[in-house]
Amino acid sequence: MDVLVSLCKRRGFIFQSSEIYGGTGAAWDYGPLGVELKNNIKRVWWRDNIHLRPDMVGLDASILMHPQVWKASGHLDHFTDPMVDCKACQHRFRADKVEEQSWIHYCPATKGNKFEVPAGEPCKHCNVRRSLCPDCGKGELTTPRQFNLMFKTFMGPVEEDAAVTYLRPETAQGIFVNFDNVLQSMRLKLPFGIAQIGKAFRNEITPGNFIFRTREFEQMEIEFFVNPLETIDGRPADEVWHERWIESRFAWYQRYGMRRENLRIREHEKDELAHYAKRTVDIEYQFPIGWSELEGVANRTDFDLKQHAQFSGKSLTYFDEDRKQHVVPYVIEPSAGADRSLLAFLADAYREEEVRGDRRVVLRFHPDLAPVKIAVLPLLKKRPEIVTTAHDLRATLARRWVTVYDDTAAIGRLYRRQDEVGTPYCVTVDVQTVGDSAKGEPGDRCVTIRERDSMEQIRVPIAELQGIFERLLGDGAWADVARSYPPARG
Ligand code: GAP
Repeated sequence: MDVLVSLCKRRGFIFQSSEIYGGTGAAWDYGPLGVELKNNIKRVWWRDNIHLRPDMVGLDASILMHPQVWKASGHLDHFTDPMVDCKACQHRFRADKVEEQSWIHYCPATKGNKFEVPAGEPCKHCNVRRSLCPDCGKGELTTPRQFNLMFKTFMGPVEEDAAVTYLRPETAQGIFVNFDNVLQSMRLKLPFGIAQIGKAFRNEITPGNFIFRTREFEQMEIEFFVNPLETIDGRPADEVWHERWIESRFAWYQRYGMRRENLRIREHEKDELAHYAKRTVDIEYQFPIGWSELEGVANRTDFDLKQHAQFSGKSLTYFDEDRKQHVVPYVIEPSAGADRSLLAFLADAYREEEVRGDRRVVLRFHPDLAPVKIAVLPLLKKRPEIVTTAHDLRATLARRWVTVYDDTAAIGRLYRRQDEVGTPYCVTVDVQTVGDSAKGEPGDRCVTIRERDSMEQIRVPIAELQGIFERLLGDGAWADVARSYPPARG
């Protein structure tokens, strides 16, 4: 993880929030390349789950909602974690996670020497298990208390109890309270889904592991509404749709390059299920910190719509024309984190390779996710014709794809820099491209394209560049395109 954190800072992906004030440790800022990467993840998620499906529509609900929403949803009463405090150093821990961290121990068997003992293990000198604070090793921990994870704030200029509201801890509720608005305005028929991407806030007791667990993060959520009276092949429709969504979401991560062996499905145990869920599975990823949740896919039944109907007094039903009766739809919810997805895509793309005795770091991003698609590089920055041609090329290609120009180092180093941020293609303009007007030698008006993963190079006419990138950055494979052009000297 440290390698990724350092790369992200050095290459402008992710910075610690308010770093010049010491940072918060619970929030992160996306730099120039990070914001492109995150936007690309959100864009392909939106395209694949909304635009390409006939049964999905989008929504962008507000973060601040009526406080009753959180009473109805159960968040005011149930969205809590058990928390313990150290009576000496005042550090705070999630009671259910204390055993998962290493602990400081002043060992009586070694005249009180200080040791850091691995998580869950006894001290190997005195065989004692942790009973005090894992951070300072001295203080007793309080008994667990429930701590609500919602951020409280005030709506309006008066800070009084009546004005209390909350920053949304999930985007889902914005969808449920708009169910009828969307149903009526779009004249939808079950089954259909509403999707939303947006910020969510949780006052996590122990945020950490970089962008894995933060207090401010972005969710990409789908609420897919299903008629509970319907069956598919003799099985309840909600159960079948649940399985379809698990498959679809599992395949989606692989479509954008995540390796199959780093993904797995984990079924929630009965005692682990949220109060609203009939069944939940997590799509887990093998993060640098170990296997952890990347996305949850839950069957929330009709819990949310019924709760909001009860608390608001408004009907949130669907009229089943065939059966001539009102039904409260069941909900299948694939709920992903944009930041956590970014961390997984980043970890999966990261490779250290040996190339002709040199070490190269490369981010093998899927081209749709890569923050920069093309880098235009002049071989010699002292030749004005080369530089001008390269700038012109950048300007032309940038109308269609994110394209950068760089002349701040020798070509080998420029390639390595682009590899390290995952740019799939570099275009090099050289002496042969422009010729030498002083000697009356015309250029061949060809440039070199270098592919990031194979490092192969081909020589192509400038006039064909646009068409070639349409293929390469569309669905075309490098090998197919490269076959039509001569190799360039490396
Ligand atoms: N509406 C259901 C829901 O919010 P969740 O499992 O609590 O379910 C869904 O959250 C996803 O949101 C998680 O799988 C994770 O990707 C992301 N997520 C949740 N808490 C997060 C946090 N503190 N920091 C970053 N991402 C988080």
